[in-house]
Amino acid sequence: MNIILLGPPGAGKGTQAQRLVTERGMVQLSTGDMLRAAVKEGTPTGLKAKAVMEAGQLVSDEIVSGIIGEALDALSADTGVIFDGYPRTAPQAESLDGILSARNRSLDHVIELEVDEDKLVERITGRFTCASCGKGYHDRFEQPKVEGECDKCHGHEFKRRPDDNEETVRTRMAEYRAKTAPILPIYEARGIVARVDGMADIGEVTTQIEAILDK
Ligand code: AP5
Ligand code: MG
Repeated sequence: MNIILLGPPGAGKGTQAQRLVTERGMVQLSTGDMLRAAVKEGTPTGLKAKAVMEAGQLVSDEIVSGIIGEALDALSADTGVIFDGYPRTAPQAESLDGILSARNRSLDHVIELEVDEDKLVERITGRFTCASCGKGYHDRFEQPKVEGECDKCHGHEFKRRPDDNEETVRTRMAEYRAKTAPILPIYEARGIVARVDGMADIGEVTTQIEAILDK
């Protein structure tokens, strides 16, 4: 199964993808995570992407479609994939069609997380992740069970993203509205779009997504 999780910054794409990985053995392909790893390693892609990401703008279509193709090639053919944060523009949606068909894959569902944008700034500015395993948390909505210790790997170091400040979040939302939301009709025309209430509790959103996958 191949699915896209679509929604603005802070909608819960990464949070829900991590849960599907744990519960269903699917693989999460997050272009944001892959780009952040490239920035950290200082690869040529990372050097190109760093300033663009810190400004909240979109990295070039060629770069992100290239890394998605490479990531898929590293997976066995029967591994289910969750695309998180990709595609984000009409050219990326078109590239994804080619990338999937070249690998005998097809899209099963595009799941839109419907959210109230006004509430997303609070979500994003409260977000942090485990520095060792990447598990996501929130200052108010998803705290570690033991304060200062990761639930998953028991690490004690956490980090915050440089683009998680209010000003950059506003730019990221504007990019979403201008370039990403307009790709939904492409998938609507294929009858594969489903919507979930992204403002519900984290576990409730997962239940709604699982119901779509089990249909
Ligand atoms: P990316 O990493 O994809 O960021 P984004 O789209 O802005 O989305 P976020 O990761 O901020 O939000 P999310 O939906 O994953 O929310 P999360 O689950 O963490 O991209 C970053 C940058 O990389 C881009 O700006 C761009 O520069 C570049 N880039 C990446 N992909 C690209 C592409 N394809 N093309 C071009 N450029 C690209 O949740 C947020 C917080 O809320 C968490 O703390 C979580 O605990 C909490 N939370 C989640 N769900 C709930 C809930 N239901 N209730 C309460 N709290 C919740
Ligand atoms: Mg994310």
